[in-house]
Amino acid sequence: MTEPVHPDRNRRKLYGRRKGPKLSARQAGLCQTLLGELAYVPGGDPLAQFPNSVREVWLEVGFGAGEHLVWQAAQHPHAGLIGAEPYQMGMAKLLTKLEESTLNNVRLYEGDGLDIVQALPDASLSRFFLLFPDPWPKTRHHKRRFLQMETLDSLARVLKPGAELRFATDDKSYLPYALERLMAHPGFDWLAQGPEGWKSRPADWPPTRYETKAIKGPPTFLRFAQKAKMPA
Ligand SMILES: C[S@@+](CC[C@H](N)C(=O)[O-])C[C@H]1O[C@@H](n2cnc3c(N)ncnc32)[C@H](O)[C@@H]1O
Repeated sequence: MTEPVHPDRNRRKLYGRRKGPKLSARQAGLCQTLLGELAYVPGGDPLAQFPNSVREVWLEVGFGAGEHLVWQAAQHPHAGLIGAEPYQMGMAKLLTKLEESTLNNVRLYEGDGLDIVQALPDASLSRFFLLFPDPWPKTRHHKRRFLQMETLDSLARVLKPGAELRFATDDKSYLPYALERLMAHPGFDWLAQGPEGWKSRPADWPPTRYETKAIKGPPTFLRFAQKAKMPA
């Protein structure tokens, strides 16, 4: 598999490994066939890459093995789910789930989710998920975290007014880091329901694989809404 080429070659490396254990023959086959059929190509109106029944587009960056993405796609057939994941085995696991389902509202990108965000038109996304992103705990690696002020600028641009940004972490340092940036950003309002609200799971937010198997501490669930610009 060749690395997707991004025009900004000097951009920071955001994700960890692409390769993991060897794919089974079935998984390797699905990466050749089904991934081609479901490929999301960054750029242009994202709705144009889904069937007519899809009326809005949601994006999950770093879907892992895809349990959350598949659940959301099944519960919300009117939404087109784009999933970005550079880790080959995660992609292969999601492709296996999709082959066994009748879902037609999922599109996939095997690479950096930022490529998608940066290429989306203004106000074209109705929901964004970043669930248990790699914590990059060392301070010198914080620049590799997906959530940067510039990324929030792009997300505020591409999300529709009032559209939700959902973020979860179990990492003690990513939580204050994310809150500080999201709360300082003029493009977002926190939808916390009371002081304890962010510690409990919203009903339409199923646990991810990481959360059930690898979690390091209590999870936090943040929901922010894109703040519509006030007329000048
Ligand atoms: C800790 S795992 C969590 C996976 C999944 N969200 C879950 O909760 O089970 C973080 C995932 O984000 C992916 N990732 C990291 N940086 C990314 C990026 N820039 N774009 C897309 N995916 C990314 C990694 O490959 C990894 O699979």
